[in-house]
Amino acid sequence: MKRIVVIGSISMDLVVTSDKRPQAGETVIGESFRTVPGGKGANQAVAASKLGSAVQMVGCIGNDPFGQQIVENFKQHGVDVAHVRVIPNEVTGTAHIVLAEADNSIVVVQSANKQVFFTEEELDQLLDEQSFVLLQLEIPIETVRQVTAYCKEKGIPVLLNPAPSQPLPSEVIEDVTYLTPNEHECRDLFKGLSVNEVLERYPNKLLVTEGVRGVRFHDGREVRHVPAIRANVVDTTGAGDTFNGALAVSLIEQEDLETAVRFAVVASGMSVEGFGAQGGMPTREDVQQRLERV
Ligand code: RIB
Repeated sequence: MKRIVVIGSISMDLVVTSDKRPQAGETVIGESFRTVPGGKGANQAVAASKLGSAVQMVGCIGNDPFGQQIVENFKQHGVDVAHVRVIPNEVTGTAHIVLAEADNSIVVVQSANKQVFFTEEELDQLLDEQSFVLLQLEIPIETVRQVTAYCKEKGIPVLLNPAPSQPLPSEVIEDVTYLTPNEHECRDLFKGLSVNEVLERYPNKLLVTEGVRGVRFHDGREVRHVPAIRANVVDTTGAGDTFNGALAVSLIEQEDLETAVRFAVVASGMSVEGFGAQGGMPTREDVQQRLERV
């Protein structure tokens, strides 16, 4: 059976809500503080598992209570944690999130996520022709490069969500099967080109997410646009991760790209209706019901 292998970050999100986002040098009084599981890799794994896929998480946590809580959370959501490594003398990654003025600002401290490395033999054991690999950019870029080259050679599909924004070696862009930047990441990656020009260059591979405006990709003939759904926004954190997890779920079920994007857009739109990166992630049934109404 096909399975999704998420190679990526695992973090605890430390979330403060506030009416006002502080400026540099300013102190403001906030309303609430909560810790919730996060990290782009972990979020994508939970999103895909909630939607019904077999999911294996591959990453690193510290030897601390955050790490233990996160493993518990994976287990509750049915994510396979056999390849989540505990790094001695290291702390679990954290993301420091301010939710204010209807948007978030995030500072990520990678900590144990910096330790995600593999030997060639480890990749041989981890991946096979049944794997569909999901990657993001909160782990070392050398690892992303190694995994994408390995998968290209073995014919294993890879979906890379190039977030947070950083320069990418051109061979990584060429080697992946799908690339899913948001519009800002797309501009950073392909400086000097318009989004439409880049879409044309990478048909059926590049999908640009544009928040409330939906998603665009090129189908080989023309640029396709899948609009976002109307949502009662509580927290947009993790919406992109839900999109990527859901897209992978639909693609391993052999759906065509447009159907997969529609499914993922609905899942992602629903995810903003709950608090925390994972709090609003829908089940398969939730998405199917919503799709019938769209
Ligand atoms: O994409 C959302 C995630 O980004 C948060 O959960 C946080 O961990 C940051 O890494």
